[in-house]
Amino acid sequence: MWKYSLIYLSFFLLLCNNCIEVLMREITDEKRKIIEHRTDFLVPGMELAHDICSADGKILFAKNSIISQHNIQKLGNWQIPKVFVYAEVTAANPIVDPKIQKFLNTYNQSVLVVQKAFDDIRATQKVPLDTFTATAADIAESVTEAGNVIDRLYNLPPCDDYTMYHSVNVSAISALIATWLKFPPEQVNAISLAGLLHDVGKSLLPPELLHKPYKLSPEEYEQYRKHVSYGYELVSKIPDISQSITAAVFQHHERRDGSGYPGGITDYYIHPYAKIIAVADLYDEGLTINRENPQSMLSPYCSLQKLWDEVYRLDPKACITFADTMADFLSGNRVMLTDGREGRVVFINKKKPSSSMVQLDDGSVVDLSEHPEVYIHYVVR
Ligand SMILES: [Fe+2]
Ligand SMILES: [Fe+2]
Repeated sequence: MWKYSLIYLSFFLLLCNNCIEVLMREITDEKRKIIEHRTDFLVPGMELAHDICSADGKILFAKNSIISQHNIQKLGNWQIPKVFVYAEVTAANPIVDPKIQKFLNTYNQSVLVVQKAFDDIRATQKVPLDTFTATAADIAESVTEAGNVIDRLYNLPPCDDYTMYHSVNVSAISALIATWLKFPPEQVNAISLAGLLHDVGKSLLPPELLHKPYKLSPEEYEQYRKHVSYGYELVSKIPDISQSITAAVFQHHERRDGSGYPGGITDYYIHPYAKIIAVADLYDEGLTINRENPQSMLSPYCSLQKLWDEVYRLDPKACITFADTMADFLSGNRVMLTDGREGRVVFINKKKPSSSMVQLDDGSVVDLSEHPEVYIHYVVR
């Protein structure tokens, strides 16, 4: 009886949702916009934009309720597939495009999923492949729909455990690079999965090693490098795992000139997926680690510059495609220069992004390529 009530309730709520969908698409006001969300992409703190009622008309969750994690679980238990919530359009949360909102929700959800998966791996030494595959497919779909949202990733709040964010970032960036390189969708999903798993071996390293606030000693660095072979051991135990994924996990620190690790192999022997992940990994590394201290982070300008400096050790096509496309999105940011002056980037120097043209607060424009002693230090958020 209870089972049938639940089915009727879900059916009724679906009908409600469908009716409301038509109405709600029309409703916006100056400050807020109503957007549709899959229930499994909700995050605590969102505000409901309509009542959710039971079959007998009882209000289960009232309009304007702030959604908690507990509420999200209840909605899931009731099999309510989607709800309508408000998206604030403010300086602190300038999200207006539902595709970008969807990506950010997928992103937040993915970080939680990866965090739990890493905890499980630590306990069981087994990689929950289905979880990673579904999460990677969601990331690839939402990031390719949303376009270039990479710069948004670095506006997100500080984090304690950068490995989770780094894994999701590398998955998203790798999926974008693969899309820009015109890989077919199934390969984009596979590259996204390889990106999500690339540092899975870090789950077997001591957490203190990953959170050292200072430069690693040679012995510590040697231990850190073992995350590659640990990752390989973990993924190669998965039944029917694709060789491409295993290769990408094992080879993401290899470099075309043989200067990488663990094998020091050269260009021909490095899997194309590993080459794409190497680009995403290098770009994200400096931007994600130490996020709690923006001054110690590399700016996206420096991170792109790092890619240009390494272009011949990385895959030039993947590297140039990414660096070139990203540079188009970095104009207009407010930045701090290494000499303490602030201004706005007005023209990107594509080959030397951290030496772009900046309009300072006194109105003057400085071409940093003519001042090699000064460069863009970080983005002022
Ligand atoms: Fe790595
Ligand atoms: Fe990495």
